[in-house]
Amino acid sequence: MKAIRVATFGGIENLKLEPNVPLPAVGKKEVLIKVSAAGVNPVDTYIRSGTYARLPELPYTPGSDAAGVVEGVGSEVTRFKKGDRVCTVRSVSGAYAEYATAEDKFVTHLSDQLSFAQGAAIGAPYYTAVKALHIRARARPGESCLIHGASGAVGIAAVQYAKAIGLYVVGTAGTKEGMALVKNTGADMVFNHREEGYVKAIQDAIGGADIILEMLSNVNLQKDLELVDTRGRVLVIGCRGTIEINPRSTMAKESSIMGVNLMTVTDEDFKEMHSVIKAGMHVGWLDPKVSKVYPLGEAKTAHHDVINNQGTTGKLVLDTTK
Ligand SMILES: NC(=O)c1ccc[n+]([C@@H]2O[C@H](COP(=O)([O-])OP(=O)(O)OC[C@H]3O[C@@H](n4cnc5c(N)ncnc54)[C@H](OP(=O)(O)O)[C@@H]3O)[C@@H](O)[C@H]2O)c1
Repeated sequence: MKAIRVATFGGIENLKLEPNVPLPAVGKKEVLIKVSAAGVNPVDTYIRSGTYARLPELPYTPGSDAAGVVEGVGSEVTRFKKGDRVCTVRSVSGAYAEYATAEDKFVTHLSDQLSFAQGAAIGAPYYTAVKALHIRARARPGESCLIHGASGAVGIAAVQYAKAIGLYVVGTAGTKEGMALVKNTGADMVFNHREEGYVKAIQDAIGGADIILEMLSNVNLQKDLELVDTRGRVLVIGCRGTIEINPRSTMAKESSIMGVNLMTVTDEDFKEMHSVIKAGMHVGWLDPKVSKVYPLGEAKTAHHDVINNQGTTGKLVLDTTK
């Protein structure tokens, strides 16, 4: 099969398209997926560069998120059968390939209403949004939620989920196109995080937010401590460096800063998150916005774009059939 292989950690030049990679073996509790599309996540670039906390053994095939059709199942798998449309949020063998294995507990059926590209955009973005709002923040209907960086993959997922559970949603984006996408996705208000004075504009508009989902905390954490309401929670989702904050900002409002990590989830958490995702597909609020699809052989460009993009409008996906 065709697959992207990485033999050395480092720059994008280490993503090599290989034509004859053996099909992965399928474990007892695993599903073999004929992959149609694979999601490109920022974390894939941190792993490829060798800077991430948990690294795979070399050589490896990148990618956690995939969508396609079940080709085969392990002897202990009962929920899936050959031919089922599915998507997964983790892969054992790597998603940037024509075939990938995944533990059955991370796989879910993909609604007929969604394309495979959309299915590949579900994994990390939607499960992270659900983990942040449901598992970590324990969001309640009627609360207000600022999604600081709402035009990207996690941001759009968070806007949809937050609206579905009855939150008042304020989103930010860095361009007019991104702002329009966030608004059209359902946010109640949208601000431009590249405009001077936008923090004050948010404060003037809503006072403070009960919940803040932060996509770039090394830039925004102090602003978030000013924007969060009394007893509010700031959820650190994205962080690409360090920042100096004044801890005193948390005292008067008794606010909390909470980390979010999709990699550390219990089986119980996963069951709850699966249920939310399945309900989202069933009811229709879960509607991933794919901004660009690259052929598998252009994984290098996709990795460059997912980190350097300014003016994000949704999710980047690889078409593994091309
Ligand atoms: N903790 C976890 O388990 C977990 C899981 C998934 C993702 N993440 C992390 O979460 C972050 C977002 O992931 P993603 O897949 O959504 O990435 P993405 O699709 O590339 O989106 C990035 C978002 O950040 C926004 N942004 C850029 N500059 C900003 C600023 N100064 N203030 C606020 N927002 C800004 C972008 O907006 P514009 O382009 O419009 O400016 C865009 O909305 C990444 O750092 C990723 O590594 C963490």
